Amino acid sequence: MVEAFAVASGKGGTGKTTTTVALGMALADEYDVTIVDADTGMANLLFHTGLTDADATLHDLLVADTDADVADAVYERFGMSVVPCGTSLAAFEEADPDRLREVVAQLADDTDVLLLDSPAALGSKSAVLPIVLADRVVVVLQPTIPALSDGLKVQEYAHSYGTDTAGVVFNKVHEAEGASGVAEKAERYFDGPTLATVPDADAARAARRDGVPLLAHAPESEAARAYREAATNLDVRAGESDEVADRFRSAVVPDSP
Ligand SMILES: Nc1ncnc2c1ncn2[C@@H]1O[C@H](COP(=O)(O)OP(=O)(O)OP(=O)(O)O)[C@@H](O)[C@H]1O
Ligand SMILES: [Mg+2]
Repeated sequence: MVEAFAVASGKGGTGKTTTTVALGMALADEYDVTIVDADTGMANLLFHTGLTDADATLHDLLVADTDADVADAVYERFGMSVVPCGTSLAAFEEADPDRLREVVAQLADDTDVLLLDSPAALGSKSAVLPIVLADRVVVVLQPTIPALSDGLKVQEYAHSYGTDTAGVVFNKVHEAEGASGVAEKAERYFDGPTLATVPDADAARAARRDGVPLLAHAPESEAARAYREAATNLDVRAGESDEVADRFRSAVVPDSP
């Protein structure tokens, strides 16, 4: 079985990578989880998982005529399989975004939950690919009206490619924002539940600085608890692995939205 989720948002810096890693670790208690840095132009999953020295990365799998096997870029960390991406601009320019379909198809054969850490915004083929490929999208945003508007645009785009909404994670929430009820109101607009409201937390910043997931760095923090709650609230659906893999291989990806 496998279900693929794109972890996405409108703006940058909302906490997509933090959420991919934290949700992945929380889900790994129950499932075989693979997290992939599908933000191939602005990769940062490697910084969150202590993989800055990784030899092979997703970039090596995306260049034409590569000798690398998918397994070369898979690292077992924190109870999950982690596929980091490199940060070199030259490697990004050499990478063919279309090849991500085959990489994700191969990964889908061998895991229960695939989390694709997605680029901010919807400006290019490599940016929209994870949303087009995924079964459902997890939208990560702050509980403000402009952020909601961005998130709804992501949902609308996802739906136009048959990708449903798994739910919304409100992140970096300050007490006053939490009390304003935006998260509750959001359930009226999004086609999925609010999975969690994660407080703005020093622990999240410190975890990132140490290159360790929040759930390993501060497992008892309120933020970590919120992510475990998000994992509980996410109803993972079991798709047939070979059918999902075939769908990835045959996906038609638009050049730009
Ligand atoms: N709940 C939180 N409280 C405080 N800081 C947070 C929280 N979540 C994430 N951060 C911090 O915000 C910054 C951006 O987070 P992250 O890298 O996860 O966002 P992103 O959406 O993936 O960004 P990008 O669009 O650049 O890929 C990081 O320094 C991270 O540690
Ligand atoms: Mg990121």
